[in-house]
Amino acid sequence: MSDNGLFLTLEGIDGAGKSSHLDALEALFQAQGRTVVRTREPGGTALAETLRGLILEQPMDPLTESLLVFAARRDHVVQVIEPALARGDVVLCDRFTDATFAYQGAGRGFDDAVLSTLEQWVQAGRAGRAGRPASQLLQPDVTLWFDLAPEIAAQRLAGARVPDKFEAQPVEFFRRVAQGYADRASADARRFVRIDASQARDQVWQQVEAALVARGVFAGAAR
Ligand code: TYD
Repeated sequence: MSDNGLFLTLEGIDGAGKSSHLDALEALFQAQGRTVVRTREPGGTALAETLRGLILEQPMDPLTESLLVFAARRDHVVQVIEPALARGDVVLCDRFTDATFAYQGAGRGFDDAVLSTLEQWVQAGRAGRAGRPASQLLQPDVTLWFDLAPEIAAQRLAGARVPDKFEAQPVEFFRRVAQGYADRASADARRFVRIDASQARDQVWQQVEAALVARGVFAGAAR
């Protein structure tokens, strides 16, 4: 067991461009000799990927959506994330619970208190991260928040691909989601790094690299 695992998440509204930096992030950590587990939410296990298909395509009420998102997360945490962190790996995860508070909470207007309860059930220690008491929730060490105006994100997405259920939402939905992320970031400034995603891709990448260096993540554990 090692306590050097690093849990890094990427967040932002659809079209913010976060996923385009995953390859470079993975390579950066590998160059430091780290083993990287690259994964995503909803998803990351066979069961969670099945749930992802339902969540992204089927209409459903916000509680159903939240339960499915957290069911997928539970499987992912137990099967993939906790074991990888216990081995000392870097877990590079495209979205995690901040997305639930931003999309289901702020975007759909669903009850944050219910989401917090689900978060506690799902992220409480079971498999047990080294040194983490059962009462301490699993949370990312660092969250890169790709912040972009919803109008610009919509332009970037337009015509890029067939939109899924969320991508097809109007810009007002994404204004609420963006505000949800901003609120999460200001409530946990130690964990969140705001990346100005309106810049050119190279400059965005420079911000990502600089933020990780500033956080000292390459020296080993961030916690
Ligand atoms: P996304 O991460 O953007 O993947 P892709 O690049 O393949 O489109 O898509 C996941 C979608 O799921 C995104 O629109 C946000 C949504 N989502 C939620 O609504 N709640 C959640 O908890 C998570 C993790 C994602």
